[in-house]
Amino acid sequence: MREAAVVLITGASSGFGEAAARSLADPGLRGRYRVFGASRRAAPDDPGDGPVMVPLDVRSDASAAACVDEVMRRAGRIDVLVNNAGYSLAGAVEETSLDEAKAQFETNFFGTARMMRAVLPIMRAQGGGRIVNVSSLAGLVGVPFHAYYAASKFAVEGLSEGLRQEVRRFGIHVSLIEPGDFKTAGTAARERAAAGLDVYAATRDRAVAVMERAEQSGPDPIGFARLLLRILAAPRPRLRYRLGSDAVWVPRARRLVPEALFEHLLRANFDMDE
Ligand SMILES: NC(=O)c1ccc[n+]([C@@H]2O[C@H](COP(=O)([O-])OP(=O)(O)OC[C@H]3O[C@@H](n4cnc5c(N)ncnc54)[C@H](OP(=O)(O)O)[C@@H]3O)[C@@H](O)[C@H]2O)c1
Repeated sequence: MREAAVVLITGASSGFGEAAARSLADPGLRGRYRVFGASRRAAPDDPGDGPVMVPLDVRSDASAAACVDEVMRRAGRIDVLVNNAGYSLAGAVEETSLDEAKAQFETNFFGTARMMRAVLPIMRAQGGGRIVNVSSLAGLVGVPFHAYYAASKFAVEGLSEGLRQEVRRFGIHVSLIEPGDFKTAGTAARERAAAGLDVYAATRDRAVAVMERAEQSGPDPIGFARLLLRILAAPRPRLRYRLGSDAVWVPRARRLVPEALFEHLLRANFDMDE
């Protein structure tokens, strides 16, 4: 019998990560994957064959190392890392302190980098592996009042694209999932710049409300789990996978229409035109 592939999914306590961890551990897959989920709120281990939860704060080197050590202690290898942990920071650039911006990068960007640095030596020694980094439609299109969130995801895009070429010869495949708006606990976990400015308040609140409505009326995160299964089954996974109809048509529209029109449509979408 083929040995189960060992999968480590960060941010597995809710949303995309939870859906993916549960789906990959589903008995219907007959043990194809041995799944470890990781997050700060490590829920108690599933008593059955579900994902095993390991504590992890992606902002800490020590925590990342301890999490990877724990998976190695239990499973002896790591075949797949899914860098999914993240949150979104709302607020105008002028309203956002650099500490808030750095915190956004510490989780979304450096958290991803930190986990990759922890697993790459293991994957190289094994002779292969897969890394799937969760970006966003906001990693392709800068979003007003979520500019630092978008910047952190643009950074994940660049990091993944470069790394993919570096580690190809070690049999390590790097891919990106770029989801549009999905209904997850991410809406409630959204952070906001603390020192708001009156001059932005009305426009920012409308734009953030549009974003939150789009998320909460978006599809169920199970689609993420299905896409991840497809990527893991692909012999040569692609660099980019868009997830959700908006993640497909928005970048396509950007290529097709003049820039000024695209920007007008973006402002109109976010209810920004005064
Ligand atoms: N939902 C969307 O519409 C959407 C669209 C595009 C991209 N995304 C991206 O998808 C990913 C998952 O988001 P989601 O929508 O599923 O949101 P979610 O339900 O809030 O899940 C976020 C997960 O990240 C974990 N996390 C946050 N900070 C962490 C830290 N410092 N260390 C370890 N784990 C941490 C959270 O767990 P703990 O709090 O327990 O640590 C949670 O499990 C994020 O990278 C997000 O940017 C989401």
